[in-house]
Amino acid sequence: MMLVRSALFFELILCSVCRIHAGPKSLNFLLFRKIVTGYNTKYMSLYEATVSQDFTTVNFTLNFARDISADIWLKSTIGQRVSKRGNTYRDVFTYDINLCRVMGRGKGNSLIDFWMNNVLRESNIPRGCPIKEGNYYMRNIRSEKETIPRFIRSGSFRIDAFVYVRDWHNANLTDTIFYVDINMK
Ligand SMILES: *[C@@H]1O[C@H](CO)[C@@H](O)[C@H](O)[C@H]1NC(C)=O
Ligand SMILES: *[C@@H]1O[C@H](CO)[C@@H](O)[C@H](O)[C@H]1NC(C)=O
Repeated sequence: MMLVRSALFFELILCSVCRIHAGPKSLNFLLFRKIVTGYNTKYMSLYEATVSQDFTTVNFTLNFARDISADIWLKSTIGQRVSKRGNTYRDVFTYDINLCRVMGRGKGNSLIDFWMNNVLRESNIPRGCPIKEGNYYMRNIRSEKETIPRFIRSGSFRIDAFVYVRDWHNANLTDTIFYVDINMK
């Protein structure tokens, strides 16, 4: 029950933030400048991301070396670069969600629903858990205006994302750092 509650709580926060800040601003572009990936060889035989030459789309390859029979969680921290030069990022927000609880969704209007649709649109990952051993892909992921919260300002961001299994002593499956440039108009 705690798990369900924290996922719901997260959405409530996002929705209320969206409403409060609902203004005329919308996404102009989002560029994936660089993506750094790592994976746990106990569970994965490959995890990689390739960015298109124009920085607008990403493909992921995820090869699971064994079945993941427990729920998979995603912990993400989004930081905005403080100055044009240098590599200092100020955290904007962090979230921790049970991916198994949101994967089958995509009909709602929350940020999570938009991202789920976006990421799984051209993917062979099943929309539900458990994830079986096997080779998976997610292709042509690109940002759309609904996938960026309106309180985000133009700038450079660093997103640290960990996919892990909470019930397996927080075993990490993958870690990813996205460096992105966002321009709001
Ligand atoms: C992603 O995969 C699609 C389909 O295989 C391919 O057309 C596209 O060029 C790939 N993009 C990148 C960035 O590798
Ligand atoms: C998983 O990665 C995070 C971030 O690097 C780290 O804090 C945590 O200790 C790792 N978990 C395990 C079980 O190694």
